[in-house]
Amino acid sequence: MAVLGRDEIINYLNGGNDDGLYSAADSLREENFGREVYLRAIVEFSNVCNKKCNYCGLRAANSKVSRYRMDVADIIESANLAAEAGARTIVLQSGDDFSYSPDRIEEIISGIKGAHDVAVTLSLGDRSAAEYEHWFKCGADRCLLKLETTNPDIYGKIRCGEDFHKRLELLRSLQDIGYEVGSGIIVGLPDYTVEQLVDDLLFLSDLGLDMIAAGPFIPHPDTPFSSAAAGDIDLSFRFTALARLLNPFSNIPATSALDSFDPEGREKGLQRGCNVIMPSVTPVSKRGNYNIYPGKNAVSVDVADSVSRAEELICALDFVVSASKGSSRRMNNVE
Ligand code: 5AD
Ligand code: SF4
Repeated sequence: MAVLGRDEIINYLNGGNDDGLYSAADSLREENFGREVYLRAIVEFSNVCNKKCNYCGLRAANSKVSRYRMDVADIIESANLAAEAGARTIVLQSGDDFSYSPDRIEEIISGIKGAHDVAVTLSLGDRSAAEYEHWFKCGADRCLLKLETTNPDIYGKIRCGEDFHKRLELLRSLQDIGYEVGSGIIVGLPDYTVEQLVDDLLFLSDLGLDMIAAGPFIPHPDTPFSSAAAGDIDLSFRFTALARLLNPFSNIPATSALDSFDPEGREKGLQRGCNVIMPSVTPVSKRGNYNIYPGKNAVSVDVADSVSRAEELICALDFVVSASKGSSRRMNNVE
């Protein structure tokens, strides 16, 4: 795989050769994953969050959100329904809600893994490395911890005083523990530059991630960034296509945020280097309140419908839903 130089990346990000970029990303995905797309079902089990990220509708200060916490039995039930509908990975996601004790998270992991042969991904935010290590021993397979930006100053500003280096340290600890680890950024945050996106791309690629996610910024009306300009969806497609060129074997999702700009956003993503779709399987009564950005979870469908809609999207493009758990192929294939 030829290494891309900085100038070349900038040219691509500026739209210098979209056709060439997208077809190279698509060929590389095809070479490494064939027609298989991985479907990961997300259970957004709590929208309670103690953080104040300026871009996110779930921030603690947003009193307009109707908050919910699912109990252990309901979380396991949603996961099991998704597994029965065909999902081979369950992603457990919440805000930074530390009311779930390590034991309760353990109960959820064991409940799901005891009933189905699925991978479990944790997307729980800044819990301690010791807690994550415990959950790894309980059978959790993967973690998702977004950096959102790889610039420490911007990180501090958009996440209201949080420390980038602490987040990075946690991410590295997760890798050391043995998890497959995913991370990513938001494309087009306020005051973002193309130069910064090149830095993000190179930084994320250097981390040796099993999964890389990037979606366009969508201003949420009840956040400090309500009047900021939205991210550019084309820049987001270019970013993920370049991520594919630099990380041939990593899993790269076509994020739901793409659909908020273009009803065929995720389809386009799959044709431009992405190989993962992550439908929400949060119960209908709760999903509308997991409103990270406008348009998120806009469709009200039950667990089985949500999985089958994702399958239809995949099949309509002549891809197939992978029957495997879609474990990382990166480690077996590093050049
Ligand atoms: N626009 C786009 N993506 C967002 N996220 C949070 N807020 C926004 C927004 N306003 C993304 C972040 C977070 C994930 C759950 O959603 O990357 O990690
Ligand atoms: Fe909380 Fe995550 Fe939203 Fe930040 S991005 S406010 S940590 S849910």
